[in-house]
Amino acid sequence: MTAGAQQRLDELRAAIAHHNKRYHTLDAPEISDADYDALVRELRTLEADHPELADATSPSQAVGGPVSSTFAPVEHAIPMMSLDNAMDADELRAWADRVSRGLVAVAGDAAAERDDAGDAGETEADDPPLPVVDYVCELKFDGLAISVRFEQGRFVQAATRGDGRVGEDVTANVATIADIPTRLATDAPPEVLEVRGEVYMTRSSFDALNARAEAAGEPHFVNPRNSAAGSLRQKDAAVTATRDLSFWSYQLGEVVVAGAGEFATARHTELLAALGALGLPVNEHVDTFSSIDDVVDHCLSWQERRHDLDYEIDGVVVKVDDIAQRRLLGSTSRAPRWAIAYKFPPEEQTTLLRDIQVSVGRTGRATPFAVLEPVFVGGSTVSMATLHNEDQVQFKDVRPGDTVVVRKAGDVIPEVVGPVSSLRPAESVPWSFPTHCPSCGNPLVRPEGEADTRCVAPDCPAQRDQKIAFFAGRGAMDIEGLGEQMVEKLTAAGLIRDPADLYTLQLDELTALDRIGATSAGNLLASIDESRGRPLPKLLTALGVRHLGPAAARALTAEFHTLDRVMAATPEELAAVDGVGEVIANTVTAWFALDANREYLERLRSGGVSFGDADTAAAEVAPSLPQTLEGRAVVVTGTLANYSRDEAADAVTARGGKSPGSVSKKTLALVVGDSPGASKLTKAESLGVPILDETGFEQLLATGELPDGSA
Ligand code: IVH
Repeated sequence: MTAGAQQRLDELRAAIAHHNKRYHTLDAPEISDADYDALVRELRTLEADHPELADATSPSQAVGGPVSSTFAPVEHAIPMMSLDNAMDADELRAWADRVSRGLVAVAGDAAAERDDAGDAGETEADDPPLPVVDYVCELKFDGLAISVRFEQGRFVQAATRGDGRVGEDVTANVATIADIPTRLATDAPPEVLEVRGEVYMTRSSFDALNARAEAAGEPHFVNPRNSAAGSLRQKDAAVTATRDLSFWSYQLGEVVVAGAGEFATARHTELLAALGALGLPVNEHVDTFSSIDDVVDHCLSWQERRHDLDYEIDGVVVKVDDIAQRRLLGSTSRAPRWAIAYKFPPEEQTTLLRDIQVSVGRTGRATPFAVLEPVFVGGSTVSMATLHNEDQVQFKDVRPGDTVVVRKAGDVIPEVVGPVSSLRPAESVPWSFPTHCPSCGNPLVRPEGEADTRCVAPDCPAQRDQKIAFFAGRGAMDIEGLGEQMVEKLTAAGLIRDPADLYTLQLDELTALDRIGATSAGNLLASIDESRGRPLPKLLTALGVRHLGPAAARALTAEFHTLDRVMAATPEELAAVDGVGEVIANTVTAWFALDANREYLERLRSGGVSFGDADTAAAEVAPSLPQTLEGRAVVVTGTLANYSRDEAADAVTARGGKSPGSVSKKTLALVVGDSPGASKLTKAESLGVPILDETGFEQLLATGELPDGSA
């Protein structure tokens, strides 16, 4: 067993040392933070299980990475430590437990010493009460730690963390950071004041930097953290000066105070206030809690809101506020016991890019996409990601066979951020856009000055299938059971060529197809039949006329009531409709002018599709329910018994209200189902927003009034 463990330890130690160097010295990590953390955790667990295999040089004992030779070394008078991580609420609670027990233990030791000295009254004391601990929560900024030294109030030196004991002298580069004052705002500065904090790049500066790189044809930056790290470690500070770096202070290093002066505070929160008063940037999101349950809620709440900020955070740092308690708790060789980093689940992962393929949409646009080795990131398994267009593939320089960084943030669609260049196979060649449509084989065209490449063949099967799938889609005719795969089956069998053919499909034609039983064929025909009566805005949207979206379709219906009247309208009459305008009016007129389109519409009509009704159309677009929630916001969280999330939101909007995704002061009520989101609940409670169950919700819908006792 020990031999196997020794081998795994060796592997882990070597791998971690390698990745430390990639991250800290070369600013070019090869694996995601999450994968790195997993290696370190495995190493620590294994070392804890096998104390006989301990090794003082193990990377588990070290902080950060080795120091590079580009910059002069700077010895930290007080070491720059790392933080232990909590990956979930349980680990956070376990840490709080250790803190409490740690404080009880030192109190017990002190009491025992007093007993020994013979000055204790009671010897048989009860269990000591748990100490009161105030926790300060700060955001965990995703940048890099530095230590900034002020002497007599003047900025004199800045150093990276390095290995924790010795960092790199980056004074000239840090001097270019506008956030960091050259002089402290005080007449009586300490002789020496070292302030520690995080250098970072805002998302907006990062986007601007990448836009400049793209315009100049230069390589692209993968994320704000790597850009900040790379920028700070430039040999030429003039380059750093162009990078718009920022800084948050959160900790003290060495402090020397002359004579009887003091720069000590009893609490961390007071220190942050003092740093702010000296003109140092301190982040505004600092919150203090006295219960770990509140800390957990706070962390979960930031996990949901992390994208609301213009800088990246990868967690929340929880610290003991009371400096005297911190002293009692002390540190291990690498991290203080009085703080912990609650880490959010990762939004970036590395994986293999198996292939780059191109899909052709209903308008003929050819979009490259990445086929990935499936990877769990941002809460789901991702196996495909869009690459947008030819220029994006080139700018990011991703190639089949590359290990790539994949990002999935919140509800945003997954994205390939860029390659891990150091892991690129030697034989790799740049990817080039196909010259011919993968579906119909006709040449693809990219007009001069445009970003998109298109298939312009009129009879391209991919375009045809996508048009039909769009027609049947949720926002259009909403034909259940007619997704892309079913469409492909029907077109491949020659049963349909366009959406109008759907309305003449026969049961026996469907059941003759491979793997379509009588039941599903019957269901499909029933959904198609149901779609015949869809309101006119849905049909107008389903036609897929360029620029004609659901809002303009509703506006046209409100004005003209029937499709025939829309067709008969002049471009001027169309453009005069509120919410339509000239661009839409022109594409709509041009579309209706084509014989082929008119013929298609007639086939839809004879298939029984409703073209609207001069009398009832007004009712379809006008609200039909009493507008009991006009202008009010009702937020829903958790699972309700009688409504899906969409249905609950629809029920609110149908009554004139809104159903946003988060709670604010203006929220009328929070409706709570099973397994609600903790942050929404906490927020509603803290703002005094009424909380309703499903019955209360139904009452609110019916009356527009909050049920008694809920406010
Ligand atoms: S306190 C003695 N506070 O996270 C520990 N660190 O994973 C002092 N970090 O090395 C660190 N935001 O680079 C602290 N609000 C914050 C932080 C923070 C980001 C970084 C810092 C640290 C790393 C540990």
